[in-house]
Amino acid sequence: MENHDYQAPGPNDLRSPCPALNALANHGYLPRDGKNITAGQMIAATHKQLNLGKTVGYFLAYGAIFKIGKIKITLDDLHTNPINHSMSLTRTDVELNEDFRKVSPALIDSLISEKDDTNKLTKYSFARQFIKRRDQSLKDNPEFHGLSRSQKIQVFGEYSLTLNCLTGSANEMGVEIDVNTLKGFYQFERFPENWKKSEKTISFRQFAKIIKETKKIQENLEKLKSK
Ligand code: HEM
Repeated sequence: MENHDYQAPGPNDLRSPCPALNALANHGYLPRDGKNITAGQMIAATHKQLNLGKTVGYFLAYGAIFKIGKIKITLDDLHTNPINHSMSLTRTDVELNEDFRKVSPALIDSLISEKDDTNKLTKYSFARQFIKRRDQSLKDNPEFHGLSRSQKIQVFGEYSLTLNCLTGSANEMGVEIDVNTLKGFYQFERFPENWKKSEKTISFRQFAKIIKETKKIQENLEKLKSK
């Protein structure tokens, strides 16, 4: 039987800027060494363990493969341009820190500080964190001048995947995520002990819906700020 226990990556194992792909490798749903990975493997692993719809998986996996220009990639290939963007939730900007491959616990605490009174992160939390991270990068990173339109969709796509894939219950899908689940996943790239994947398959429509709604909240918050 396949072993899906968590194992931290060893010194020769490669990891990506994506908490989900890293967690899947840490649990053996993707090769644990992070090497020779195909689009098919990413689509199958995100479907099996996160119930991500195969159309969404196809879009993400082939998007990455196409930009990298290889049939088999390593997880580390995903750190390269043009896929990588500044103002990530879990890692410092490439231009600012030699350790950009490492998770920054301070950044994760900063996201968690946006939780609501019931210890959940919602679309509002991610929208506020978007503004905070963007302003930080604009201030500290002289090479960052804001995200392009497509990068902005990519970033809200990452928030949407989090809110859709990590909630476990169909009622909460796209609505809220418990801070402890988020911390385990973002900081330790590990699935919780009694992990239950989403009851409902995450369709492309659902993925796009949460992108649109979170982006709208961010735009409204900016309008309020400028008044
Ligand atoms: C085939 C599937 C996937 C591919 C190819 C992929 C690829 C990537 C890449 C390249 C990044 C880095 C962008 C950057 O910061 O520069 C990223 C970030 C991210 N991905 Fe994935 N991803 C996939 C699936 C998922 C799934 C299923 C989730 C669900 C939780 C997810 C959650 C995230 C999050 C939250 C980030 C942002 C991390 C941060 O800002 O620090 N991804 N992904």
